[in-house]
Amino acid sequence: MRLDKYLAQSTGFSRKEVKRMLHAEEVRVNGELEKNPARKVAEEDEVILDGYEIEAPRDRYIMLNKPLGYVCSHDEGDHASVLGLIELPRVDNLTIAGRLDVDTTGLVLLSDNGQWCHRITSPRHKLGKIYEATLADPIDESYIEKFERGIQLNGDKELTKPAKLEILSEQVARVELFEGRYHQVKRMFAALGNKVEELHRESIGPIALDDDLYEGEWRELTDDEVASIFNG
Ligand code: URA
Repeated sequence: MRLDKYLAQSTGFSRKEVKRMLHAEEVRVNGELEKNPARKVAEEDEVILDGYEIEAPRDRYIMLNKPLGYVCSHDEGDHASVLGLIELPRVDNLTIAGRLDVDTTGLVLLSDNGQWCHRITSPRHKLGKIYEATLADPIDESYIEKFERGIQLNGDKELTKPAKLEILSEQVARVELFEGRYHQVKRMFAALGNKVEELHRESIGPIALDDDLYEGEWRELTDDEVASIFNG
C-alpha cells in the first residue's frame, strides 16, 4: 500500500494532511526519514509518525440494526444514509453488503473488504438471507410450495430460485432467499396477490442480528463471524 494511504487509513488524517506531514519530515519508515507519499509499505514495515508508531490499517467488519427511514446507499436523497449511523472515520470506505429497502429493518453488514462483501452478495456462494415478513392478508399454505418451486416476477426473465417459507402465524412468515433481486420478498408476495406490510432481516448466512442491538445501533463483528463468511 502507498505510504500516504497507509497513514490516512490508520490515523483518520486526510491525504492532504498526510502529505504535509511527509513534507515536514515527520515520518520515518524502518528508521529512515521518508518524504515520498508513493513509497510502498507492507504490514511488517515500521512506520513512525511524529514519534509514534502507526499500526497497519485493518479492514473493519460491522453489523448494523437498520431502522426504518434510512437508505443503504452512499448518497443521501430524501432519506439519510445508514452510514451516518456509524460513528467511525472513513465511513465512505465501507461497502454495504446487501442493501435493504428504506422501509425494511434489520441486519446490514458493512466492511472495507470488498471481496468479503462480494461473497455475501454473490448468488454463487448461496448464502441464505432470512427475513420476517408481515403480510396484509392471511398467508395461504400453498405459498410454501410456490416459494419452493420458484415464482415468476413481473419484468424478470427467470423464475426465482427455490426459497423457503415458514408460516409463523396467520399473517407473519419467515422467508429464506438464496439470491437478492430488487425488492424480491415484496415482489414474491405481490405475485401471489398479497402485500408485505413490514419486513425485517434476521440473518445473512451464519451471521444473525444481535438481539442486544437496538435499531440504529451497530457493533464490530467477532473474528469468528468474519471467518464464517469465508468458511460458509
Ligand atoms: N426484499 C425486499 O423486498 N426488500 C428488502 O429490503 C429486502 C428483500
